[in-house]
Amino acid sequence: MADPRWMVITGASSGIGAEMARIAAERGRPLVLVARREERLRALAAELAPKVATEIVALDLERPEGALRLVEELGARGIVPETLVNNAGFGLRGRFATMSYEDQVAMVELNVTTLTRLCRLVLPGMIERRRGGIVNVASMAAYQAIPFMAVYAATKAYVVSLSEALHEEARRHGVVVTVVCPGPTATEFTLRANVEKSKMFSTGSMSAAEVARLGLDGYEKGRAVVVTGGRNHLIGIASKLLPRLASRRVAGWMQG
Ligand SMILES: NC(=O)c1ccc[n+]([C@@H]2O[C@H](COP(=O)([O-])OP(=O)(O)OC[C@H]3O[C@@H](n4cnc5c(N)ncnc54)[C@H](OP(=O)(O)O)[C@@H]3O)[C@@H](O)[C@H]2O)c1
Repeated sequence: MADPRWMVITGASSGIGAEMARIAAERGRPLVLVARREERLRALAAELAPKVATEIVALDLERPEGALRLVEELGARGIVPETLVNNAGFGLRGRFATMSYEDQVAMVELNVTTLTRLCRLVLPGMIERRRGGIVNVASMAAYQAIPFMAVYAATKAYVVSLSEALHEEARRHGVVVTVVCPGPTATEFTLRANVEKSKMFSTGSMSAAEVARLGLDGYEKGRAVVVTGGRNHLIGIASKLLPRLASRRVAGWMQG
């Protein structure tokens, strides 16, 4: 357990998180895989076991005590995370005024509150050790208000803002904080979010493996922000250049 290179990945049971785990295993990083679906975690751990040490933690990170329970569980197993990947997250498409409030709060809990708490719990140790860092998975949804995905886009705007600020605070202590901004990516996210038929997703998606590779490469290079793929770079530039009225109208049309 005393290996100094543990990488803890939340949301490792599918999609981008599972692909990050596969890539990190190729690079020899021992892994802690975290999500709710234990069977999926067990299967992935078995797949990666010939390459690296793996641990699984089956946990619901939407619950207020989720972040603390994860860190306590790591402590109990003697694991000191060198890298934390805050990847677990979900989005929902629909009208703000009619969407379930419980679902909206769950999005804020997972995408914002748990992510913040995990950063707050692990960053002091990283700063003290002058080693390691955090990868936060946000979204291109962060770059403009998105009608019909209002809460999701707002949570991801928070993640980008928080992560950029933490990057500046941590870098003078030898710690890297990177935020990854994927655009449409082919994962189970699209089913849960009900975005499969939106114009944004029907114009094409990147693979989870490619997004995961770009994200981890950017972190290893010490980048503050990683926008995945050429199309997303263009969308990012456009949303900075367009007046806010235009970018939110276009975003609403793409989701409508
Ligand atoms: N796919 C896209 O188009 C896209 C675009 C931009 C950003 N992103 C972001 O990328 C990240 C990964 O999403 P993905 O696309 O890979 O989707 P995904 O395949 O649905 O993966 C989401 C992961 O989060 C975990 N998760 C969800 N709720 C959880 C909870 N309450 N507690 C613990 N773990 C939980 C899921 O595991 P369990 O269900 O087993 O708990 C799963 O492992 C998310 O933050 C998402 O917002 C995705």
